[in-house]
Amino acid sequence: MINPMDLTGKNILVTGASGGIGRETAIQLSRLGATLVVTARDEEKLHKTYKMLEGKGHGYFTMDLDYVDYIEPIMKQLCKDCGPFTGFAHCAGFTLMRPFAKTKREHIDYVMNSSFYSFVEIARCLTKKGCFTDEGSMVALSSTASIQGKQGKLAYSAAKAALDAAVRCMICDLKKKKIRINTVMPCWVDTHMFREYLELYSDTFEIKEMKEKQYMGVTEPVEVANTIAFLLSDAAKTITGTSILMDGGMLQG
Ligand SMILES: NC(=O)c1ccc[n+]([C@@H]2O[C@H](COP(=O)([O-])OP(=O)(O)OC[C@H]3O[C@@H](n4cnc5c(N)ncnc54)[C@H](OP(=O)(O)O)[C@@H]3O)[C@@H](O)[C@H]2O)c1
Repeated sequence: MINPMDLTGKNILVTGASGGIGRETAIQLSRLGATLVVTARDEEKLHKTYKMLEGKGHGYFTMDLDYVDYIEPIMKQLCKDCGPFTGFAHCAGFTLMRPFAKTKREHIDYVMNSSFYSFVEIARCLTKKGCFTDEGSMVALSSTASIQGKQGKLAYSAAKAALDAAVRCMICDLKKKKIRINTVMPCWVDTHMFREYLELYSDTFEIKEMKEKQYMGVTEPVEVANTIAFLLSDAAKTITGTSILMDGGMLQG
């Protein structure tokens, strides 16, 4: 039987792979035949992901994306040891709830580092000679927060909106290599990030409204993983510079 999302022969880098959507994405990509290099900060959790991968030839290493200036030498070595890559899934991210009045540049930078600056820097390094195959694909995890304003979410929303805007520009620079870059915009996904948020704000209007508005239900991490797998596969070979909404009906409902 033909599987249009077959990833056999693809070599893919996944950030944020120690848990949540990133772990589920790594597992799903391995099931579809890809060889993976997975990264995050927590070595124990990352190793657990590595052990859950199907197939052979995978690798893992720890990297703290808050140190954006250190990404280039790490990527140089990684491409030498494990490249060239055919895919990149950027699942790392951090959410911060903070009132506008108390949001200073350092708070915005903190969120921007793991979500946005690191994505641009890794992608920039990957597009150097010999690191990424022509016609490869990159995917970053955005969010509905990119287009929906919420109290206290300035830094998070700005980081996600920056990702969506950046991919539209990056593809223009990468036309010759036909490298595709897209983002996925989920609303609530059932991960540690979501459950922590739920605990903190369970009695707020936003949570009550969310349960009502995301009427298709909370998205499972594997459903986001499948969308990422699709975008990394040849089945999506003319989809580029766009953002796929996975809001469970939230924005229109
Ligand atoms: N859950 C949702 O409802 C939802 C909705 C829309 C979009 N998203 C986006 O989806 C992505 C994944 O979210 P999730 O729910 O799976 O969250 P999660 O379970 O908290 O996972 C976040 C991942 O990012 C990694 N990470 C965070 N900061 C990092 C840093 N400085 N350097 C390297 N790795 C870092 C974490 O690994 P370590 O701690 O081991 O470093 C972890 O693997 C995020 O970008 C998030 O904004 C989530």
